[in-house]
Amino acid sequence: MYLTKEEERTLSGEDGETLQKAIEILVALGDIYGADRLIPIKSAQIAGVSYKTIGDAGLEWISDLEGKVKVPSILNPAGMDLVRWNEMGITPKFSQKQQKIIAAYEKLGVTPKCTCTPYYLDNFTLGYGDHVAWSESSAISYANSVLGARTNREGGPSALSAALIGKTANFGYHLEEKRKPSVSVTVECNLSGSDYAALGYLIGGDVGSRVPLFFLQNEPEGDELKALGAAMAASGAVALYHVDGVTPDARKMTFGKPDENIIIEEKQIRGVYDRMPDEAKRGADVDMVALGCPHCSADELAHIARLLDKKRVGKDVWVCTSREVAEHYPQFVDKIERSGALVVCDTCMVVSPASENYKLMMVNSGKALAYVPGMCKVPARFGSIEDCIKEALKGSGDTDGNGN
Ligand code: F3S
Repeated sequence: MYLTKEEERTLSGEDGETLQKAIEILVALGDIYGADRLIPIKSAQIAGVSYKTIGDAGLEWISDLEGKVKVPSILNPAGMDLVRWNEMGITPKFSQKQQKIIAAYEKLGVTPKCTCTPYYLDNFTLGYGDHVAWSESSAISYANSVLGARTNREGGPSALSAALIGKTANFGYHLEEKRKPSVSVTVECNLSGSDYAALGYLIGGDVGSRVPLFFLQNEPEGDELKALGAAMAASGAVALYHVDGVTPDARKMTFGKPDENIIIEEKQIRGVYDRMPDEAKRGADVDMVALGCPHCSADELAHIARLLDKKRVGKDVWVCTSREVAEHYPQFVDKIERSGALVVCDTCMVVSPASENYKLMMVNSGKALAYVPGMCKVPARFGSIEDCIKEALKGSGDTDGNGN
């Protein structure tokens, strides 16, 4: 792999131990995957933030690093709302550790914005062909597929290394030839809203880490594509997908239709909604409704606010979003919270330990449906946003969920 003189100097340790380790990681990955060189990146999004997932070992590792990131860099969701953690039932001990992790990243020049939807942040936008090093699987999928940017599935350490060097190794999805689809998925029914999350949940296992090209009956919107990609990245390992005639690569690049074609029928999509965990079959009630996986957009917050307007929820409800989106739209946050639901920033139902205290969760996300049972040890049911709000209103006297 070709290195510039400056990169060679960093690799030899002349710029300090942290940068030496960082470039060693990038060069090792580049050598394994056949990169020809390092390429500049526009931004980094760094996973490995929640104290629940990285623990004391991770905190120690980050705290020992020195230097400053060279490109705008933000963080994946933490284990708690950094301001209202006590309202979530987080312990002071956990909070203290979590704040130390955030402070350690800040010392490295990382902006302490904790979200899996960095593309909604001011000053963090991406254009077609931009190279980045992002490490949250749904954000990677959105950047590659919906925005036409280029990122590999970075791990936390490799994304942080890329941020510190300002570059990443040129392989995988940074190269046009690796972005071509290798399997088609033909959906034979119309889809809307959470159907896309159900489709992603359904198809991820079959697609694995390949690049699918979807042929859909109708044109999805941004939030629907976000839900599709997030679910496929969780039930499979899909980092890039195309939708014929819709996503930017499918419009700008020419590629033939792959030989293998998976057909999806309406009854398969309905089957995801009908799945009942054993606990629900035995009569357990939903005691938590969690929305916002990936973090809610302004449109999703507005929709939830309309559904909850002048209503009262009868169980715990989390609406997860980024702090910046919440701060931009206080009118939606107020409406949602007047119902008794909590707008949770900086974290989510999967990476926070607070969601482990429930018996049965209802979600509108294929990613949460895939991860909550394993990572939180809480069984989960799937429904549309409307289904979830109806469930949330049960026991409160408000039951229509239409916001009328
Ligand atoms: Fe984001 Fe947490 Fe879902 S990080 S994509 S809300 S699992």
